[in-house]
Amino acid sequence: MKFKGVIFDLDGVICFTDKFHYQAWKKLADRLGIEFDEKINDRLRGVSRMASLEIILEKSARAYSDAEKESFAAEKNDAYRALLENMGKSDVSEEVRDTLSELRARGVLLAIGSSSRNTPLILEKTGMKQYFDAVSDGNNITRSKPDPEVFLKAAQFLNLAPADCLVVEDAVAGIDAGFSGGFRTAAIGEATNYDRPDYKLTTFSDLLKIVD
Ligand code: BG6
Ligand code: MG
Repeated sequence: MKFKGVIFDLDGVICFTDKFHYQAWKKLADRLGIEFDEKINDRLRGVSRMASLEIILEKSARAYSDAEKESFAAEKNDAYRALLENMGKSDVSEEVRDTLSELRARGVLLAIGSSSRNTPLILEKTGMKQYFDAVSDGNNITRSKPDPEVFLKAAQFLNLAPADCLVVEDAVAGIDAGFSGGFRTAAIGEATNYDRPDYKLTTFSDLLKIVD
């Protein structure tokens, strides 16, 4: 078996919460009169909440105090969680569910490796917790992607070596994190435009051809 485990990013891979992140940041940026578009948003993929805010504030005409930044991050998170409230089982595609079930049936261990501190809420809302043998997220790390910490912890939770695991990512920062942690990587979505991933997925179920 080429891979004993697969570690999935959450936002933009398992479900499309990346669009909610965008909407919530956009709301804050508009209120502050700061330019923000999809191109800037792509730089936020995989990056922690505070690091994302710093990227958005690069376009700000004025500087903000740490206390103001804390309150902006909380404001964004409130808007984001309000959007998550409406999520349900139908926010994860049949294709994703079927692929995960098939990988499990093949005896492959599955984990989440996400920078998001909202991971538990999203897994609960979408009813996806049962598919994963381990969850490593923003609540158990001190360094966000592109640091490999979140994936190294996920591999540890699975009791597997990084060399035995595939990391699936939609973010350039996540592909870099996987690479520097000694994992092989598969890109989906935005990250397929990057030249570093070992594999590029046209569609999620392509994983079944890679992980056999
Ligand atoms: C990542 C997203 O999964 O989680 C980032 O790609 C986000 O856009 C990060 O900033 C942190 O998320 P949260 O939910 O802890 O604010
Ligand atoms: Mg992502």
